[in-house]
Amino acid sequence: MLIEINDVSKKIKGALILKHVTLQFKGGLVYGFQGPNGSGKTMLLRLVAGLILPTEGEVLIDGARLGRDIDFPPSVGLLIENPAFLPGYTGKRNLELLADLRGRVGDREICEAICDVGLDPEDKRKYRKYSLGMKQRLGVAAAIMEKPDLLLLDEPTNALDEKGVEMLCALIRRERDRGACVLVACHDREILDRLADEIYTVQEGCVERRPL
Ligand SMILES: Nc1ncnc2c1ncn2[C@@H]1O[C@H](COP(=O)(O)OP(=O)(O)OP(=O)(O)O)[C@@H](O)[C@H]1O
Ligand SMILES: [Mg+2]
Repeated sequence: MLIEINDVSKKIKGALILKHVTLQFKGGLVYGFQGPNGSGKTMLLRLVAGLILPTEGEVLIDGARLGRDIDFPPSVGLLIENPAFLPGYTGKRNLELLADLRGRVGDREICEAICDVGLDPEDKRKYRKYSLGMKQRLGVAAAIMEKPDLLLLDEPTNALDEKGVEMLCALIRRERDRGACVLVACHDREILDRLADEIYTVQEGCVERRPL
């Protein structure tokens, strides 16, 4: 898997949110992004996910241009800002509904993903009764359940307890070792230092590689 961001700028309502960003990401590596609030980390992940299109420049996923050749990366798992699930259904039912959209995975993979994040597939509680950390865990499960080539995680440690953070780090490593290209935006520098193969600093829409 190769992702190429070629000289991308993004303007929203007159404001330049991303400025001449040029980056490449490959499978089997974890890329970390840090930077102040409002610097453009989430927008960068949304760009790679095909959720926003560049004002200038292009994003190529294995050579296919987002917004022209393809609408979205063909195999992507994402957790961007708050996970959005249906409050009146159980965690598992929510994942089943998502899985049915693409028809790539079934009951076994869904249960595995739920167990991977430390939740119980048999839990009969509705999503609305989940704690904040449980919601976050379900969001991580949704992102990984299809074993995507590309994994986009925006502040994935949000609301997770200590064990949850360890679980997440282990999962990210596992996904990377499986060959996934993993992009993680995270305010916790220590976690990025531990996890990321390359770290980038985002500042007012500019992205720069930080020496390790
Ligand atoms: N829907 C939107 N419409 C217009 N501008 C937006 C929108 N969402 C975000 N922005 C702007 O884009 C810029 C980058 O925001 P972004 O959410 O990417 O920051 P961030 O680095 O993820 O910050 P944080 O650390 O708080 O998550 C900010 O200036 C923000 O105000
Ligand atoms: Mg953000």
